[in-house]
Amino acid sequence: MPYRISRLGIVEIRSLDLDRDLDYYLNVLGLQLTAREGKTAYLKGWDERHAYSVALTEAERAGMVRLAFRTVDPEDLDYYERRLRQFSVKYDVISEDYRRGRALRFIVPSGHTVELYNEMDYTGNLLPTVNPAPWPEGLKGIAPPRLDHTLVTAPEPPKAIQFFQEVLEFRVSEMLVNPEGVPVAAWLWQRPAPHDIAIVPGRAGGFHHAAFVVDSADALFRAADILTMHKARIDYGPGRHGITRGATIYFFDPSGNRLETFGGYTSYQMDPDCRAIKWTMDQIGPAVFYYSQELNETFLSVYT
Ligand SMILES: [Fe+2]
Repeated sequence: MPYRISRLGIVEIRSLDLDRDLDYYLNVLGLQLTAREGKTAYLKGWDERHAYSVALTEAERAGMVRLAFRTVDPEDLDYYERRLRQFSVKYDVISEDYRRGRALRFIVPSGHTVELYNEMDYTGNLLPTVNPAPWPEGLKGIAPPRLDHTLVTAPEPPKAIQFFQEVLEFRVSEMLVNPEGVPVAAWLWQRPAPHDIAIVPGRAGGFHHAAFVVDSADALFRAADILTMHKARIDYGPGRHGITRGATIYFFDPSGNRLETFGGYTSYQMDPDCRAIKWTMDQIGPAVFYYSQELNETFLSVYT
């Protein structure tokens, strides 16, 4: 099965105070500002090639507005349109959005608004395309290279997991199963990484976190230093997930949305031969937080 989704392309996150939160996203998290248009700021990591990956929109409450996946090729968008019809999924065609072309927008069984698109302005990363240095000077804050994945909540995880598997052809890298073998949570992938999206139990439309890659465990500790210097609220870490093996810090933006720095190269890489790994509920502690071996109070109860 070819993979047709190149990446989690966009998350749109709600901000209770755009000026305050934009300062945090630029100077503590250290994303690059693409533009600010009305109540929305468009941001990206320094190594991302397209115009933006994060939209931060002022709103009355925190949480996620939508998430969007970029297809590998334009034809893949047509392929998915046929699949949405085949599975009788209602969708809207969004002719264009800020610096982006046609998108298919639909609601998935977890209650989230999901879009698929292919075209977005290709603006390049912060490095020249001829004789580039390994990283650009003058970065602020944690400065993650890119958006990696998101984790969302679903009232009935098996239905949401099945939708991503059947309709959008994601594969399960890991899952947490109840004693009957039914998945309670799943980590789903298309590009060769442990997950592009994960689903855990919770409210419909809930936003658990968006994760940004950092390139090493060293970079993860530097991120923890920066968060602490700025008195950011850290939820967990630095630590490691049993699931994905990724090194992690969970922390909150000033509106209370959870973010993650994920040590991308501390986790494993996927290939089509990989089969789903199962974790049993009695091992949920080390599955999520490998070193402390138990969930913290907030993991399943605090999200936006
Ligand atoms: Fe994560």
